[in-house]
Amino acid sequence: MNIRENISLKAHNTFGVEARARYFTEVNNTRELQEALRQWAGERPFILGGGSNILLTGEINRLVIKNNIGGRAVTGTAGDKAWISAGGGENWHRLVLWSLDLGLGGLENLSLIPGTVGAAPIQNIGAYGRELREVFHALEAVELDTGALHSFDKEACRFGYRDSIFKRELKGRYCITRVSLELTTANHNLDTSYGAIRQMLESRGVANPTIHDISRAVIAIRSEKLPDPEVLGNSGSFFKNPETPLTQLEKLQKCYPDIPYYPFGEGSVKVPAGWLIEQAGWKGKRIGDAGCYEKQALVLVNHGQASGKEIFKLAERIQQSVEEKFGIVLEMEVNVI
Ligand code: EPU
Repeated sequence: MNIRENISLKAHNTFGVEARARYFTEVNNTRELQEALRQWAGERPFILGGGSNILLTGEINRLVIKNNIGGRAVTGTAGDKAWISAGGGENWHRLVLWSLDLGLGGLENLSLIPGTVGAAPIQNIGAYGRELREVFHALEAVELDTGALHSFDKEACRFGYRDSIFKRELKGRYCITRVSLELTTANHNLDTSYGAIRQMLESRGVANPTIHDISRAVIAIRSEKLPDPEVLGNSGSFFKNPETPLTQLEKLQKCYPDIPYYPFGEGSVKVPAGWLIEQAGWKGKRIGDAGCYEKQALVLVNHGQASGKEIFKLAERIQQSVEEKFGIVLEMEVNVI
């Protein structure tokens, strides 16, 4: 194992904040990962994927292992179904494009989400009406304390809204090495229910969209609304959309008749955190180089030299004012390290 010391993680996190890893190594396959774990005698290592859902607020004193495990394959077909499998270190969007090139449906709404395949199940990535769990089949992961390879089916992952067992009971305990998904070869189950997709398709004169049309629409919407991390450091949605009881929504509607919401389970709704943050006056504001994005208040950005701590402070101030104004507590979606 080639362990390097005192490595900058600036290029390894999409916020582009400076933070150092005391020890750093990269693994290209499961065997290399197991070997690294066997040789490393220190505290449990930290697994780094695409760095697109983390906020680094200080040095990481443990070993950081960058998951570069690659490979993509169609592993089986039956009827209208196809199963694909990809290494945890593969780029998510490249997997989406590859599956679309093969004519496989299921990932089109999840186009252009930053990050890696291995990170996708951890927070059950979702966008434009779809979540990973709907196409998820199974995953393989190495337990960091023992080096043992375990399989998890859909039920074992306990997916929820931006949530899974890997964000809760098993947080930080596994490295996801391979993910397998169930896609469609024909009769695709298209989802154009999200308003922005419908409008984009209409404006392009597409009446009977294909999986490619939907993917292109999602790419256009995301490119317009969300900042490109290469240009402006960010980690996508910083907060989750809070689950709010219907009774509380009804109270809020008296003062804010236009409050947007999505149905969510029985007796509750999700209120867009972006709306709450905008109403609390934060949209487009900045404190030093830490800012709240001008086009989508749910996204916090690094205008250049912000530290992780400064972005975290801004997030706390936003949480505070949303709670004071609406009585709603925003939960951070990004992993703060
Ligand atoms: N809104 C505002 N002001 C804002 C932003 C949003 O008023 O600054 C309101 C608008 O009413 C808008 C509504 O919020 O219609 C919803 O906004 P949007 O369609 O942008 O979606 P979102 O609920 O803010 C969620 C996901 C995104 C995902 C989009 C589309 C979460 C935490 N975020 O955002 O996911 O792309 O829906 O499906 O659920 C991510 O997780 O990193 C991410 C970008």
